[in-house]
Amino acid sequence: MPLSASQAFLLLLLSSILSLLYHSLLDKTPEPAAPHRTIRVLLWHWPFGRSYSLDGDKCLEMYNISGCVLTDNTSLFSTADAVVFHHHELSKGLASLPVHLHRPLSQHWVWMSLEPPDNSANLEGLNGLFNWTMSYRRDADIPIPYGETVPGGAAQPMHAAPNRSCLVSWVISKYRPQQSRARVYQDLKKHIGIEVYGRWNNKPLSRRKLLPTIAKCLFYLSFENSEVKDYISEKLWRNAFQAGVVPVVLGPSRATYEALAPPHSFIHVSDFSSAAALAAHLQRVAADGGAYDAYLQWHRTHRVRTSTDWRERLCQICVRYTRLPARRVYHDLEAWVNM
Ligand SMILES: *[C@@H]1O[C@H](CO)[C@@H](O)[C@H](O)[C@H]1NC(C)=O
Ligand SMILES: *[C@@H]1O[C@H](CO)[C@@H](O)[C@H](O)[C@H]1NC(C)=O
Ligand SMILES: *[C@@H]1O[C@H](CO)[C@@H](O)[C@H](O)[C@H]1NC(C)=O
Ligand SMILES: *[C@@H]1O[C@H](CO)[C@@H](O)[C@H](O)[C@H]1NC(C)=O
Repeated sequence: MPLSASQAFLLLLLSSILSLLYHSLLDKTPEPAAPHRTIRVLLWHWPFGRSYSLDGDKCLEMYNISGCVLTDNTSLFSTADAVVFHHHELSKGLASLPVHLHRPLSQHWVWMSLEPPDNSANLEGLNGLFNWTMSYRRDADIPIPYGETVPGGAAQPMHAAPNRSCLVSWVISKYRPQQSRARVYQDLKKHIGIEVYGRWNNKPLSRRKLLPTIAKCLFYLSFENSEVKDYISEKLWRNAFQAGVVPVVLGPSRATYEALAPPHSFIHVSDFSSAAALAAHLQRVAADGGAYDAYLQWHRTHRVRTSTDWRERLCQICVRYTRLPARRVYHDLEAWVNM
């Protein structure tokens, strides 16, 4: 029996619905990931005037990140997907923004800094220009923390060397009496001995000597110069953790350290009502091998990764690229930085 045109149409409709259903419900094989197009990142000027080679495919060669081209050739401005500006040079007038150039519609300008707000001067002129932020802050569009812990413990579990020759050390270059870390130090040293190194004390440590010297003591004062949101520097990740000593921390809140550092890995200054109470705690832990070792347990399952190369940070833009907000403008960058 020949089908009428409307019957044929209905059949066709039915079969396409069935086929759609089939493909959406039964065919669970994932689509092969579309090879994402190459992302071009232009670094407008090098942080602190120190440049590194960008020849070849650095993100792939050094960090196994593909489809990410880094350049510092400012002539390539019009082809860049993201242009990165390091704040220090902008604030000092050592570099200026290419506001005179035609800015492609899809191009994103990235404000980059690893400094706390205190060291981020001259932000007021930068409102309404940037699309993304790149900083140690967790809520930056591209977070670039000073360090992090990753799974994978040390082959040898770390143990308190019973013969460690001192209790606490501190490396300090820029001592400012009005900073709270200076006040805590002054109070603490009334109760316990503290070995002080660094330029302030005329006992600078070379890169090679730094960690072995810190490792001679049981505790290290990982005191940040600014107590601000998320600011945890290499004073924790490198100086204390990588030396294998227990940090006494002063910086953001305990909750922040709990979120970012391994569990039971630090002693927070704010947990003690006085310097005397903190000093007593350090002496108690030092005298009790088990209590001290408990602070080092995390080394069995985790290790510290510090990030020190600007190229690695720039490659992070590509890692995050597809998840970054397509349209965003920091209308009040100063407020964001000081948040
Ligand atoms: C590099 O990345 C690819 C894809 O992400 C992965 O399959 C491969 O194992 C990685 N290679 C190394 C040496 O990490
Ligand atoms: C920068 O790019 C321009 C345009 O492609 C090119 O002519 C120039 O040689 C490049 N400069 C350097 C230093 O690579
Ligand atoms: C502790 O003593 C052991 C054995 O006496 C020695 O091998 C080690 O180097 C000493 N460690 C420190 C930090 O002095
Ligand atoms: C980036 O910021 C500029 C300056 O405010 C703005 O004009 C532009 O639309 C933004 N671009 C994107 C892709 O969000």
